[in-house]
Amino acid sequence: MEESKRIPVHVSIIMDGNGRWAEERGHERVYGHAAGVESVRACTEAAVETGVRYLSLFAFSEENWNRPEHEVHTLMELMVKAMRDELPTMMKNGVRFVVLGNRARLSSSLNEMIDDCEARTAANDRLVLVIFLSYSGKWDILQAAKKLAAEISSGQADEEELLSMGVDGFDRYLVTAGIPDPDLIIRTSGECRLSNYLLWQAAYSEFIFTGVLWPDFRKEEFRAALAEYARRDRRYGRVK
Ligand code: IPE
Ligand code: IPE
Ligand code: MG
Repeated sequence: MEESKRIPVHVSIIMDGNGRWAEERGHERVYGHAAGVESVRACTEAAVETGVRYLSLFAFSEENWNRPEHEVHTLMELMVKAMRDELPTMMKNGVRFVVLGNRARLSSSLNEMIDDCEARTAANDRLVLVIFLSYSGKWDILQAAKKLAAEISSGQADEEELLSMGVDGFDRYLVTAGIPDPDLIIRTSGECRLSNYLLWQAAYSEFIFTGVLWPDFRKEEFRAALAEYARRDRRYGRVK
C-alpha cells in the first residue's frame, strides 16, 4: 500500500481517564483535566508532523453536563485558557481550530472566544483541529433532521429532493458537514464504548481502544496508534 494511504486523513480521539489519572496520584479529578491539555498539545503536534489532516477530540459530551458544577466550570475555564495559550502555536503550525456541538448550551463569553479563535485560524490549512464540545451523536442526528424539516417547511428544500436524498445528502445537515468521516477513532483509559460520540460518522471507522489514560497519551502513543492503523485492512463490505 502507498505510504499516503496508510496515514489516516481524520483521526478522532475520545480523551478519557483524566479523573482516574488524578485520583491515582491523590489529587482532585480536575488536576487530571489540566494534565490532559498537555496531551492535546502533543497529539496536535504529532498530527501535524505525521501529515494527518483532521484531528478531532471529544472534549465534553452532552452527558458531561451532569457532572458536579465545580468540575464542569473547571473544564470550561480550561477550554478558555487553552484557546488563549495555544493560539500562537496554532498559527505557527498552520492549525485551523473548529468547535462543534450544542453551542447554545455554552456561555456567551466562551462562544465569543470560540468565534474569535475560529476566525483567526480560518485560513490555516495544515491541520483542522476539531473540538467536540457539548456534543453527542444522537443530538447531532436529531438537529440534522430538524434542520432538514425546517428547510422543507420553509420551502428551501422540496419533498422530491428529500425522497431522492442519499446518505451523502444527509451528511451535510450534520454539524460535521464538509469534514470527512474519521478513519480512526482512538479511545483511551480502557473503556470500550462510544459514549454517544460520532454515531453516524463512525460507520466505517477503525477503532483502537488503549488502556493508557489520556494525560499519559503523548506523541509516542499517537504514533503507535497510527502504526497499528497502517496494519488494518479496510474492506468496506467487499471481498478482497
Ligand atoms: C475525560 O476524563 C474527560 C471528560 C470526559 C471531560 P474523565 O473525566 O472522564 O476521567 P475518568 O474517566 O473519570 O477517569
Ligand atoms: C466520554 O467520556 C466523553 C468524553 C471523553 C468527552 P465519559 O467519561 O464521559 O464517558 P462514560 O461516562 O465513561 O461513558
Ligand atoms: Mg471518563
